[in-house]
Amino acid sequence: MSTPTLRLVELGPDDDAFAAWCAVWAATEQADRPGDAPRTVDDHAALGRQLVASGGSRDGTHRAALLGDDVVGALRLLYPLRDNTSVAFVDVAVYPAHRRRGIGGALVAEALRLAAAAGRTELIAEIDEPGPDTPGRLFALRHGWSCDLLETRRDLALPVDEARLAAVEADARRASGGYEVVTWRDHVPDELLDDRAVLEERMSTDAPHGDMPVEAERWDGERIREIEDLNVARGRTVLSAGALHDGRLVAFTDLHVPLATSEHARQGATLVLREHRGHRLGALVKAAVLRDLATAFPRTRLITTYNLEGNAPMVAVNAALGFEPAGQTSMWSLRPGSAPG
Ligand SMILES: CC(C)(COP(=O)(O)OP(=O)(O)OC[C@H]1O[C@@H](n2cnc3c(N)ncnc32)[C@H](O)[C@@H]1OP(=O)(O)O)[C@@H](O)C(=O)NCCC(=O)NCCS
Repeated sequence: MSTPTLRLVELGPDDDAFAAWCAVWAATEQADRPGDAPRTVDDHAALGRQLVASGGSRDGTHRAALLGDDVVGALRLLYPLRDNTSVAFVDVAVYPAHRRRGIGGALVAEALRLAAAAGRTELIAEIDEPGPDTPGRLFALRHGWSCDLLETRRDLALPVDEARLAAVEADARRASGGYEVVTWRDHVPDELLDDRAVLEERMSTDAPHGDMPVEAERWDGERIREIEDLNVARGRTVLSAGALHDGRLVAFTDLHVPLATSEHARQGATLVLREHRGHRLGALVKAAVLRDLATAFPRTRLITTYNLEGNAPMVAVNAALGFEPAGQTSMWSLRPGSAPG
C-alpha cells in the first residue's frame, strides 16, 4: 500500500476535524508534561472563534496536516490588529508518532506563506522546555529561529505553607500603608476598567520581553472586556487582586483556573505601576489572590508561573511563597527570508 501524501487544509473551530486538531496538542502536551492536564477542545475552540470573528483585537487562522484522513499536525496563526501589526504568533505541533518526517517543516513553510500574505514580517513562537534539548528547541534552531527570551517555570504546591504566607502578608502590609487591597473575579469592576487598561499597556512596555520583536500594546476598556469574555468562554475563571491608591488601581495580579481541571491553576500577569514600586504591592496582591483561591477552589493543588531570571523582584516574591523551578519556556522569532531553508 502506498504512503498517503501530506495535505495541509484550512479548518475552523466548528469543523468536524477540529477535535482531532486539538488532539494533536493534547498528545504533544502529554508527551512534554505528563503531569499536566492538556488544554480542552472547548478552550481551543473559544480562542479559535475569537480569531475567526470580525471586530476583535486579533484574528488568525488554523491549518491541519493530514495523512489520509488522519490529522497528524496542527498550526495556528494569530495576528494582533490593534498594535504589533507586523507580527504573527505561530503555534505548531506534530503528533509524537509522526515526528522527524518533515511535517513540522511543512507547517512552518505554510506559516511563512500565510504570514507573508497577511503582511506580517516577523513570526513569534513559544516553546515549552521541560528539560534540555527539547524537540521544539532543536527544530527551531534547525529552522533559523532565534531565542529572544528564556523564562523559568516555577510551580507552587498547594496548600501554601500557612507560616510562609502569613509572613509574606505581614511584611507586605507593613510596607504598603495607604494602599487598599481589592479582589474580583472574571470582570474588573467598571470604575477600575480604564485603570486596568493602563496597567495592561504597562505590561507590554515594563515587563521584560528580552529581544522579542514586539512594540507597546494599545489597550482600552473594550479590549479588556473582550479578553475577559474570552477567558470565560475558554472555560477559565480568573481570580484577580489589585491595590488601590486614592481610589485608582495601581497594581494587579491574575490567576487563571481552568474549570475542567481546576487542580492546576496558572499565574497570569502581575504588575505594579513603576511609580508605586517599593511598597511590596506585588507580594500584597499575590497573597490576596492565594487566599481567594484557597476559599473558592480548595482542591487546587498546583500553581504554575513563568519568570525571567533577571526579574529579581518577581522571583523574590515567588521564592518567598515557596515556588520551585520546573523547567523553562522560551520565546523565539523568525523573520521570513532569514531561515536557512
Ligand atoms: C517541533 C515539532 C513541531 C517538530 O515537528 P517534526 O515534524 O518532527 O519536524 P521536522 O520533521 O520537520 O523536523 C525538521 C528538523 O528539525 C530538527 N528536529 C526536529 N525534532 C528534532 C529532535 N527531536 N531532535 C533533533 N532534531 C530535531 C531536525 O533537524 C529535523 O530534520 P531531520 O529530521 O531531517 O534531522 C514537534 O517536535 C513538536 O510538535 N514539538 C512540540 C511542540 C513545539 O515545541 N512546537 C514549537 C515549534 S516552533
